[in-house]
Amino acid sequence: MLRGLKADIVIYNIGQLVTFMEGPLARVSEDNAVIVRDAGVAIRDGKIVAVGRSSDIKSRFEGSKINADKRLVTPGLIDPHTHLVFYGSREDEFEDKLRGVSYSEILARGGGIYRTVTATREANVNDLLKRVLSVARLMLSHGTTTIEVKSGYALDLEGEAKMLYVARKLEELLPLKVIPTLLAHVPPLVYKENIQEYVNYFTNAIIPEIANRNLALYIDVFCDKGAFSLNDSKIILEAGLRAGLRARIHADQIEYIGCSKLVEKLNLDSLDHLEKMPEENSRLIAERGAVATLLPTSIMSMLEQSRPPVRALREAKTIIAIGSDYNPNNMTPLQQTVIDISPYILGLTPLEALAAATINAAKSLNISHEVGAIKENYTADIIIWEIENYKWLGYTWGYNKVLKVIAKGRIAYSRE
Ligand code: NIG
Ligand code: FE
Repeated sequence: MLRGLKADIVIYNIGQLVTFMEGPLARVSEDNAVIVRDAGVAIRDGKIVAVGRSSDIKSRFEGSKINADKRLVTPGLIDPHTHLVFYGSREDEFEDKLRGVSYSEILARGGGIYRTVTATREANVNDLLKRVLSVARLMLSHGTTTIEVKSGYALDLEGEAKMLYVARKLEELLPLKVIPTLLAHVPPLVYKENIQEYVNYFTNAIIPEIANRNLALYIDVFCDKGAFSLNDSKIILEAGLRAGLRARIHADQIEYIGCSKLVEKLNLDSLDHLEKMPEENSRLIAERGAVATLLPTSIMSMLEQSRPPVRALREAKTIIAIGSDYNPNNMTPLQQTVIDISPYILGLTPLEALAAATINAAKSLNISHEVGAIKENYTADIIIWEIENYKWLGYTWGYNKVLKVIAKGRIAYSRE
């Protein structure tokens, strides 16, 4: 047997390694998951170089050894939907919602997103970065190693560029992979009587310039009542695709106005929210190979009773991802919590939730060939958990179950 191969980190004595090789998965079960007992992983130059039996890996590779002590090991978590960059908070609106004022009413009176726009426009890059870094560190310490980050709280070119610049800085400062998204969130209140003019400005001035400056990989639009109409959303997404961005959408969250049907006409990587989606649209998403990204903590923050049609999505063999939708209306940045909550809010099994937050979330961001699995040549984003097997996900919740996080091949968090 070969001995003395060089590694930076060698993880051995893994009780249960869980990953998904045949991903992205439309139907998740133990049959298509890779569940290995007594496993080991070798890491070099930020990549996974070998996965195998603990004793083999330990004897073949030289490097800094980590004893996983028979615990669960999974890929790092991928959060495919965050509004991480913003300023201010809206805790008083939480109380309003509990008293029965709806999210739409708060938005229509100039609160909600509009309030955050005012605060975010006034904040400078340093203010924003300071907040973003502290939340991102918290995410990393709970197992998140890749995040999608949306703009959408400035609504004008330089403000949106400022937000996306902060997202890029974050990737330079922490061992996180960041996928930046330009979000057409809401038409500014001053354009209330002339939304067309704003759509023109967004498509002719903001999109091409953000794409030219290489500040975003995705275009996204909040297609809903009180935000952008079906037709305007289509115009915005098409302009993004023309500018070379990939596309995703906030669809069918507040009211069904047909937004998820856009998947028939446009190349969408991901349709997010879907609380009000009619069951039959599940098939349309599956046929196009797009991902349904569900946001359980957002459902809670909205005090929403409707649920996305999970059973229909499963039956149609739609790829399901989950995300945090961290934003000032939903201040829960942890993808670990999203996994834990998913069985209760969405009825996902722990294994489905894990696939939804790893390989399927990677698919929704078009990066499932490099992150989201423990596989040779993949980025070395790995979690060593305190629990011994995946069945404890969701079964126990409300505290950090992560012992160690390896991100881009280095130890990013360790409980000791
Ligand atoms: O995804 N739905 C639209 N946008 C966000 C909420 C943003 C906010 O309220 O600030 C979401 O839930
Ligand atoms: Fe969102």
